[in-house]
Amino acid sequence: MSNSKSADADDGETEVETPTDWGKVIGDGGLVVVSNRQPYSHTYDGDDITVEVHAGGLTAGLDPVMQSVGGTWIAWGDGDADREVVDEDDCVPAPPDDPGYTLCRVWLDEEEVDDYYYGFSNQVLWPICHSALTNVTEWESYWERYKSVNERFVDRVEEHAESGDIVWFQDYHFALAPAIARERVDEDTVLMQFWHIPWPAWDTFRGCPHGEAIIEGLLGNDLLVFHVPRYRDNFLDCVEAALGDATVDHEAGTVTYDGHTTQVTEFPMGVQVDEIAQRAATDEADEFWADFTESYNVADTVAVGVDRLDYSKGIPERLRALEQFWERNPEWQGKLTYVEKGSETRSQIDAYQDIQDRIEAGVERVNDRFGTDDWTPVLSFEEYISKEALASLYRHSDLALISPIRDGMNLVAQEYVAAQIDDDGVLVLSDQAGAGRLLDAAVMVKPQNTGAFADAIEAAVTMPESERRARMHRLREQVSENDLATWTGLNLRAAVALRDGEGSVTEPGVPTGGQP
Ligand code: G6P
Repeated sequence: MSNSKSADADDGETEVETPTDWGKVIGDGGLVVVSNRQPYSHTYDGDDITVEVHAGGLTAGLDPVMQSVGGTWIAWGDGDADREVVDEDDCVPAPPDDPGYTLCRVWLDEEEVDDYYYGFSNQVLWPICHSALTNVTEWESYWERYKSVNERFVDRVEEHAESGDIVWFQDYHFALAPAIARERVDEDTVLMQFWHIPWPAWDTFRGCPHGEAIIEGLLGNDLLVFHVPRYRDNFLDCVEAALGDATVDHEAGTVTYDGHTTQVTEFPMGVQVDEIAQRAATDEADEFWADFTESYNVADTVAVGVDRLDYSKGIPERLRALEQFWERNPEWQGKLTYVEKGSETRSQIDAYQDIQDRIEAGVERVNDRFGTDDWTPVLSFEEYISKEALASLYRHSDLALISPIRDGMNLVAQEYVAAQIDDDGVLVLSDQAGAGRLLDAAVMVKPQNTGAFADAIEAAVTMPESERRARMHRLREQVSENDLATWTGLNLRAAVALRDGEGSVTEPGVPTGGQP
């Protein structure tokens, strides 16, 4: 990466930095990452054991950091062969084919998975944070096991973290762990957390069962980071409203509660821009596209959407917008193919089964209405495709329709831009995604205003080439300035500054687009 600031520019000047410098940034202390998802799982394939790589933004983004630092990553061991390969401490070298760090697994039994993962994490905190209050389902056992599983992860932190280390919790699965850890680890250990999903306004968060305890748990962190200022501000408002005896300094972004100060800030997560661009230019990418277009008789103009099949992603609304577009612009029937690359997710939860059924019905409806022998308007598939194939799909799609109803960031929008090495695609983006803050040259839509969304699709497919290129050029600058290395550096340097007593972190220094 050529655009992030140097780790060791003592004189204040910036130098070129590569992701392999993270060990230098951290200096003497170690790094312990805690996340629910593990970067690699071991599974049985007949009698053989194979390794699955988790491609999600969180795990894919932190894996190179861990490889460079050589720390410890604590995560749920969810693979059916995970236990076969660990040592007596339940740890395994990772990545399996070229070890650079230690992956330590936490075993969860079926009830823990049901209550902590499917329950409190994904039926309470996920819908609350995405302002989907009607999807909140709480059983007492969800909360009890959320607490006990958070404690079990902290047990592992205690085993592995040493004084001066940085412990980096990831996401909403661990809202209680920081306060538990605060009591148990050395005071020179820095506790920090990145919250990958939105934080809602108080009027929504006040509906959260056990909300006060959630906030207290997070205030065990020394550093708590969100993607964009709006989530940080919402969090600070919630602290003030929920905890009468907390002192909140909105300007400095600090909360002092129970004798401990937490720095709260925002660093928007980015993607590995250079790697994605390189993948988009490979022979494998070209071959994928040639096969794909031939096999599916794809139209000349292609729109793409890549989503976990989650109710927050706005997929039924997108299908309605496309339907309206084809209805109003019949000359585009047969001329535009929409490709939906979905990934099944959390299907044990009713709300997810419902949305997945609705998406399937929406695809069928549009295809029945407009499809012909030669043309399928919506091609929808869930099969795994390689990173090169995905980069190819992005590169060759004339437009991307990224329309979440609410989304912490949305890294797919950034990946699409990163893969536009020909500078000619159009990004149609929901103004409800954190990515809207960075990517101000996208065509912005309100996902549920499907009429205006249909107009935006029309504007995108008819946009003059000069405007398309100018917008994409700006978007590409924006994702490059804010790539994954930049995000990593901002987080790690902020933690090191706190560890080394260099004061607070009030200058996120991130590029900003239009919205707060
Ligand atoms: C979101 C969350 C991540 C999560 C990912 C996949 O991006 O912020 O923490 O890992 O979705 O969801 P899953 O439930 O499969 O881990």
